[in-house]
Amino acid sequence: MDDTQIMMIQQSFSKLAQNAPQAAETFYAHLFEIAPEVRPLFKGDMDHQGAKLMTTLGAVVKGLRDPDTIAPVAQMLARNHVGFGVAADHYEPVGAALLHTLKAGLGDDFDAETEAAWATAYTSLADVMKEAAYGGSPGHT
Ligand code: HEM
Repeated sequence: MDDTQIMMIQQSFSKLAQNAPQAAETFYAHLFEIAPEVRPLFKGDMDHQGAKLMTTLGAVVKGLRDPDTIAPVAQMLARNHVGFGVAADHYEPVGAALLHTLKAGLGDDFDAETEAAWATAYTSLADVMKEAAYGGSPGHT
């Protein structure tokens, strides 16, 4: 990812985060629509869960210029997710729900370049997480 892409991701996320509760609500509504099988994995209060998701995503987005710092945190998070019942296949609908949420929240500001930057960033994050949690070759899960 180049500097321009990192800047696009950071700017679009900060806009989305201005209405974090709405973004989290859109995210889970879409996720449970496209992947209803993951709904039972979430046991807690969804407002609380949404806030955690947005905070963690914010930390990842902030650290994009320094991937060596993000990787260990992402790896630990991924291993914890195995205990929540999360499977490697679940990363794809979560990525789709994230892109959907950005599109819904940003409208025309979410242009093709910004979307491509997000898709690249999420794929690399998901690959790091899946590799840590399930092993095997990233991208072939
Ligand atoms: C890609 C990046 C992801 C991030 C940044 C993220 C973030 C988080 C965070 C911060 C928590 C709270 C952890 C804790 O309380 O210890 C959490 C819990 C959880 N996440 Fe994720 N997550 C990601 C991917 C996924 C995926 C792919 C799934 C699959 C459905 C998922 C499902 C869950 C579930 C089921 C919980 C536990 C909910 C509960 O306790 O009721 N997450 N996630």
